[in-house]
Amino acid sequence: MAKKPITLTVDGVTYTDDVEPRTLLVQYLREQLGKVGTLVGCDTTNCGACTVHLDGRSIKSCTMFAVQADGHDVTTIEGITAADGALHPMQKAFHESHALQCGFCTPGMIMQSIDLVNEHPDPDEATVRENLEGNLCRCTGYQNIVKAVQAGAREMAGTPESTEAGAA
Ligand code: FES
Ligand code: FES
Repeated sequence: MAKKPITLTVDGVTYTDDVEPRTLLVQYLREQLGKVGTLVGCDTTNCGACTVHLDGRSIKSCTMFAVQADGHDVTTIEGITAADGALHPMQKAFHESHALQCGFCTPGMIMQSIDLVNEHPDPDEATVRENLEGNLCRCTGYQNIVKAVQAGAREMAGTPESTEAGAA
């Protein structure tokens, strides 16, 4: 099949490549750019492991073709750490709240959680659960993930620990 040229920004770097029209965005990110922090769980839009941001909003990158991302701005889990290597507040919160076991779902959970908090800066538990519906974890039972998202929201707002006592 004839390849098509695309130009897009991924984690702050602009790439121009030729891709087959059937290439999924997640395939392009992983196989062509080496962004293997974005994972593939189901390949059918169910699990959320492949979640990245497209122009600042979370999307499932197994649901899009790479050609559809032409001209857009993509951020992966590998693009959210600071230049000096400091973790993003949401990554820090997942780490500190023990919100992972095998970790397979974690990159997608974190990308979805950042989008969630951008939209709901101080989410209650129901809001967190509702907005993580499209991201599946087989391990943790979600309790610590919910706590992590709320802690991450406080970190992103610059007020870490401020409401920690209320959870007990
Ligand atoms: S791999 Fe994309 S939703 Fe599961
Ligand atoms: S930590 Fe294992 S699937 Fe989420």
